[in-house]
Amino acid sequence: MAGDAPIEQNEGRGQWTSSLGFILAATGSAIGLGNLWKFPFITWENRGGAFVLVYLLCIVAVGLPIMMAEILIGRKTQKSAVGAMKEAFGKRWGIVGGWGVLAGFVILSYYSVIAGWSLFYFTKALGWSMSGFPQGAQLGDDFTSFAAQGGLQIGLSGLFMAATMGVVLSGVKGGIERTARILLPVLFVILILLLVSALSMSGSGQALSFIFRPNFSELGMDGLLEALGHAFFTLSLGMGAMITYGSYVAKDQSIVKASGVIVVLDTVIALVATIIMFSVIFSVPGMEEQVGGSTVGMLFISLPELFYSTVPFGRVLAPAFYILVAFAALTSTISLLEVVAAYAIDEHGIGRKKATLMTGGAIFLVTVLCALSFGGSSGLSAFEIFEGKAGVFGTLDHLASNWLLPIGGFLITLATGWFMTREDSEAELALGGVPAWYSYGAWRFFIRFVAPVAVGAILVAVIFFGVDFS
Ligand code: PFF
Repeated sequence: MAGDAPIEQNEGRGQWTSSLGFILAATGSAIGLGNLWKFPFITWENRGGAFVLVYLLCIVAVGLPIMMAEILIGRKTQKSAVGAMKEAFGKRWGIVGGWGVLAGFVILSYYSVIAGWSLFYFTKALGWSMSGFPQGAQLGDDFTSFAAQGGLQIGLSGLFMAATMGVVLSGVKGGIERTARILLPVLFVILILLLVSALSMSGSGQALSFIFRPNFSELGMDGLLEALGHAFFTLSLGMGAMITYGSYVAKDQSIVKASGVIVVLDTVIALVATIIMFSVIFSVPGMEEQVGGSTVGMLFISLPELFYSTVPFGRVLAPAFYILVAFAALTSTISLLEVVAAYAIDEHGIGRKKATLMTGGAIFLVTVLCALSFGGSSGLSAFEIFEGKAGVFGTLDHLASNWLLPIGGFLITLATGWFMTREDSEAELALGGVPAWYSYGAWRFFIRFVAPVAVGAILVAVIFFGVDFS
């Protein structure tokens, strides 16, 4: 049994130094562009309140149980995605782990392009803070020409990928955990400062009621399913990231407590980011109509100008905001690469350094294609497999959100609920103690029935009704 493996073997694979170390690393994986870039936008598109409520339900009823299941599989087997699925459920289930590795590969290849943008806007914001915001600037036009500069796009995403690889090759403790321990507290502090400033703005009341006052007539079926799809993305579920991170958790730590903390932190941060952005937007007359276009628009076109024209202490907060986005993205790209690298390490016996360089290098080749798909190359920008999703970037985002994560999540849920004995899952979840709110029976009900039905609904929606979550 994996639990009896010699200590040296576990140490050779790496292990978090403590429960807090794991929680920070996993929370770092969860909090990312999904919280700061996607969630505010889909909340906007779906007209707030009712969507947010449904999203919260999805997090509790589907996200939390699957989070616990993935960590459980990883910790029980002490193996990364492919090896863990094979050992826990039988050889054939290895393919589900392989599916996750593919998802990590695909998501990282496009995610690092947007992450690179945050670095660029950080330097731009620093410049504006020092020399003043340019009068009459056309940020929309500037953004379009920035996105179309192929060389710059490749350079920025390459820089981000290099940072990610640097962390992953330094190992679980010295690289991943240490980075999360440093970046996450900085991220929380910046977010609190931004929140205080945003709440003092005139639009904050309107923002709060937009986000928290449900109006169910505004929510359609596709909004409901979008909430469910986003719950996977934001919690890094459905692709074995939490299996992999779970495999570095020691046997005396509580999976239930850790999962609760990770899920709550991710949700709070998504809500806080949304309150900040909407407070700013509602404080400027006429801004509401302008924002509509795209998520990218909200983050990189509307917000920069508002920081300098409207936000209290905006000159200090603007660069802080973009470095926050970069930090949040980095702790997520690390986990995406770790899923792929750990597969090479565990299943092919390749050393960590070599595995990181090989997998990171291979992913970067696809990143180059994504980086050129915002106008840098007309062929790559027009490339279309899924209707209405032009460009390599749009295609891969659609592929991951609509297919890879929901299918991976569905199979992981089925496996844990129906192909692992009650004794095994109960014993693993009980290790390290459980908090007062937890009931094994409830978890088992959710993982066997509620989560598979909900995730199955996403798949049916995508396959038969063409609903889009990206
Ligand atoms: N959870 C990340 C976000 O919200 O940005 C995205 C992500 C990271 C998805 C890691 C999947 C993953 F394995």
